[in-house]
Amino acid sequence: MCGIVGYIGHRKAQDILVEGLKRLEYRGYDSAGVCAVADGALVTAKCPGRIANLEERLAEVPAIGQATLGIAHTRWATHGSPTEANAHPHLSDDGRIALVHNGIIENYLPLKQWLQSKGRTFASQTDSEVLSNLIAEFYASSGDFVEAVRTALHEVTGTYGIAVLCRDEPDRIVAARRGSPLIVGIGQDEYIIASDASAIVAHTANVVYLHDNEMAVIDGDQMRTITIDNVPTTREVELIEYSLEEIALDGFDHFMLKEIFEQPQSIRDCLRGRLNMRESRVQLGGIESVARELVKTRRFIFTACGTAWHAGLIGEFLFEDLARIPAETEYASEFRYRNPIIEDGTAVIAISQSGETADTLAALREARDKGALALGIVNAVGSTIARETDAGVYLHAGPEIGVASTKAFTCQVAVETMLALYLGRRKFMSQEIMTRFMEALAAIPGQIETVLAQSDMIRDVVSRVADRENWLFLGRGYNYPVALEGALKLKEISYIHAEGLPAAEMKHGPIALIHKGMPVVFIAPRCGVYDKIISNIEEVRARGGYVIAVATEGNKEIRRYADAVFYVPDCPQALQPLLTVIPLQLLAYQAAVLRGCNVDKPRNLAKSVTVE
Ligand code: AGP
Ligand code: GLU
Repeated sequence: MCGIVGYIGHRKAQDILVEGLKRLEYRGYDSAGVCAVADGALVTAKCPGRIANLEERLAEVPAIGQATLGIAHTRWATHGSPTEANAHPHLSDDGRIALVHNGIIENYLPLKQWLQSKGRTFASQTDSEVLSNLIAEFYASSGDFVEAVRTALHEVTGTYGIAVLCRDEPDRIVAARRGSPLIVGIGQDEYIIASDASAIVAHTANVVYLHDNEMAVIDGDQMRTITIDNVPTTREVELIEYSLEEIALDGFDHFMLKEIFEQPQSIRDCLRGRLNMRESRVQLGGIESVARELVKTRRFIFTACGTAWHAGLIGEFLFEDLARIPAETEYASEFRYRNPIIEDGTAVIAISQSGETADTLAALREARDKGALALGIVNAVGSTIARETDAGVYLHAGPEIGVASTKAFTCQVAVETMLALYLGRRKFMSQEIMTRFMEALAAIPGQIETVLAQSDMIRDVVSRVADRENWLFLGRGYNYPVALEGALKLKEISYIHAEGLPAAEMKHGPIALIHKGMPVVFIAPRCGVYDKIISNIEEVRARGGYVIAVATEGNKEIRRYADAVFYVPDCPQALQPLLTVIPLQLLAYQAAVLRGCNVDKPRNLAKSVTVE
């Protein structure tokens, strides 16, 4: 999920590696490290925090400064906190193999157990260290470094971009990828390996993009590429022709847009290894230690702020609907001050992208003090909220840079769905229904892609009404929190005043606001109350409102009532928010761009709110 740099050539590796890491800083990371072969040993320097800290550490390890070959990493933790021990590169226990890894090794646990049975020991909590020990294990028996990497990659499931060193073959780097980008820059008698072109462009414009299941073996000034099945491949050398800024944004105009478009992948990463289709089971390693307590829990309280609070509200519906357990959602800032009642059998779930939001943290502490089981749904591994919970589930959404939360929101909802299914199945849900939900959830990333394809059309629609200063967002059931989220997104980045409401509430007051041309967004996919929503739409139209509807693909009839329609594929109602929120994110983004707002850094807002 974060950054890799590798160097092999005639220059001092350290300078190029550290400079490359600095180029990757924009991605967000929690720790960094470097490894080189020096005096016949693999020497590492690593630490949590900034690259500047790593530079200080490197000053204490002069041997690395002499090497002309090395690997480096910035980590965005998925398995284990951002500590020095968990920072990459990871050495095998015998000191022969060093590896940097981006991605997630799904089956790291059984592999770790197997390696432990062979006497291998581990110094970190990461999934990545399992891969360095696995390569070392195969290397110990074959004595062939390339073969050992190849064999190991056959054993792993999940995603990886890796660069690997071997103590006994000090002039060689082996790199490989599956599902995580990896590029080799080809300079004058030198190669720079990186997960992102920004670490390469200062040195060369000639690059080779590795494909999935492909390895690059670089020996001194020679490179060859093979598949992990040992079939040689030929890769064309391509020219990078974009600026550093363009690279950081990966072709998108803003991080928010990039993150909206990342959602198919971030949700795949979030679900990765957690849906066991064969056994019709959701497996969530982070809550195993409290599994029995969870099943006995009588009431869940979600607590969070802002977008995460909207995700909480969807969680409440999911828990009650799919697991039939009473649940409620509280603003963290209110919950902490109102002396809440926590009875026996209550679990509190704090939801937070950053894991550092002051109000959410305080609410969590309040609930813990009162005896609640404290759980977290958090993106930033090792963050304060993650550390202070009894158990939890990480999002694995990758770093979110845009201030407006998008991919964290959908991953929060995906985690809640898995939790609800996990509990439902343990309580009463049949295997058949469980399988149906799991399949529908696994299909969501592909379905999001079809919604994203409407981006240009959404921009055209928004351009007709971007000058309007007051908007309403209306939805029912699962789509009521989506209405709230759509309104918040629009407010925070375009500064348009918007309100989200349960659609039926409109006639109890807000209908007085409707006037000619006022945009009203209805989230109206097929559901039990669809006909009622159509009546609400009629009420708005009768007063001249400009109706934008989010509807289920194939629903042509709704065009009769709405001025514009954004379509989402069909899915079970419980999963609809994962699809219906996407056009609303795009709508808010386009409105902000059309109004000339600073999308990634909206006025008065900070990415992480660590004050009350
Ligand atoms: C989202 O777009 C907001 N900027 C904000 O509401 C955010 O969701 C809230 O501050 C909570 O942050 P957290 O998820 O990091 O705890
Ligand atoms: N899964 C690995 C870890 O947690 C790699 C994370 C990354 O891609 O930065 O250490």
